[in-house]
Amino acid sequence: MKRAVIRLDLKTLLIGAAALALPSLSAQAADHGAAGAAIDQLLPVCQSCHGEHGAKPIVPEYPVLAGQYASYIEHALKDYRSGARKNAVMKAQAANLTDADIAALSQYFAHQASPIYTFKLEQQK
Ligand code: HEC
Repeated sequence: MKRAVIRLDLKTLLIGAAALALPSLSAQAADHGAAGAAIDQLLPVCQSCHGEHGAKPIVPEYPVLAGQYASYIEHALKDYRSGARKNAVMKAQAANLTDADIAALSQYFAHQASPIYTFKLEQQK
């Protein structure tokens, strides 16, 4: 049991270190302009912490994104980017996202099957 906990911590550290590469990845994607191309590069990074399709975070402290309202995800990412919401890990993740990246990521995660239930609003695309 103790062993499993230690392994998980190591995995988290490794993934955290790998995620530091995101700003350059994201800048590269932004050069291509299209959110469609950018999201292919961004999703694997997001999923390295938030789990496959954002539905299975690698540790319970990381939030489920799948099934969350797109407008909520978008709001959170913009607040991390501006610094209005303070979190060192997510600040680094959001720093170089364009508005188009954020819109595409929010739509993607909002439409994934999820262990959480959100009431589907009519205006939710
Ligand atoms: C290194 C791990 C890691 C990576 C990579 C990562 N996240 Fe996060 N994310 C977190 C943690 C930890 C939190 C909780 C931060 C907090 O408490 O504000 C979080 C929070 C969030 C939230 C707020 C969720 C809520 O319920 O309020 C959103 C949205 C989000 N991340 C989206 C993303 C997206 C999109 C990406 C990829 C561009 C990404 N994350 C990459 C670890 C990560």
